[in-house]
Amino acid sequence: MAHTLVAEKPEHAAAIERVLDRAFGPGRFAKTSERVRERGAMLEPWLSRVALDSEGEVIGVCRIWRVEAGAPLYFLGPLAVDPAAQAAGLGLALVRDAIAACRSVGGSGIALVGAERFFRPAGFSVAPEGRIGLPGPVDPKRLLWLELRPGGFDKVRGEIGAPKP
Ligand SMILES: CC(C)(COP(=O)(O)OP(=O)(O)OC[C@H]1O[C@@H](n2cnc3c(N)ncnc32)[C@H](O)[C@@H]1OP(=O)(O)O)[C@@H](O)C(=O)NCCC(=O)NCCS
Repeated sequence: MAHTLVAEKPEHAAAIERVLDRAFGPGRFAKTSERVRERGAMLEPWLSRVALDSEGEVIGVCRIWRVEAGAPLYFLGPLAVDPAAQAAGLGLALVRDAIAACRSVGGSGIALVGAERFFRPAGFSVAPEGRIGLPGPVDPKRLLWLELRPGGFDKVRGEIGAPKP
């Protein structure tokens, strides 16, 4: 399916909610990642990406948040592709484009909760156990990170929370 990737804009908001509902189903707000977002993480729309189909409909989303864990970093999620458009490479394309956006503004690194097998091709690996945490339970094997520049994570440690003003 032909698609384009663009930065998130306010007019995408309602369609993004529909894609998230369809992709995650009920229970999407129970995830520990949601606690990070509730606790003051700042959405970065110009680094977040949506995928549009040939008619301009939103069929995928990858959001990026500004957070802090001893030092500033980004937090990726939710990532979702409409079930009708899955398994065509769009999920990974969204992740790669969001990473490139974070790198282009000099970001230090990105953390997320997800399957290592899926995110590894984009450069993510399991964060060293105990180095960073979330405000809630998380399987340490699903707590992933990606350093965007050498030394980017040197000062990153502790619980991921709201960015400093
Ligand atoms: C996860 C998701 C975004 C992937 O989107 P997609 O467009 O189908 O992904 P891609 O086509 O880029 O998939 C790339 C690879 O990842 C694999 N993959 C997809 N979902 C996966 C998962 N949950 N765990 C591990 N691997 C997965 C695919 O099999 C594919 O591998 P292959 O190329 O070897 O066959 C999509 O399935 C989705 O919206 N799922 C529901 C929401 C969700 O779970 N989001 C992720 C939260 S971390």
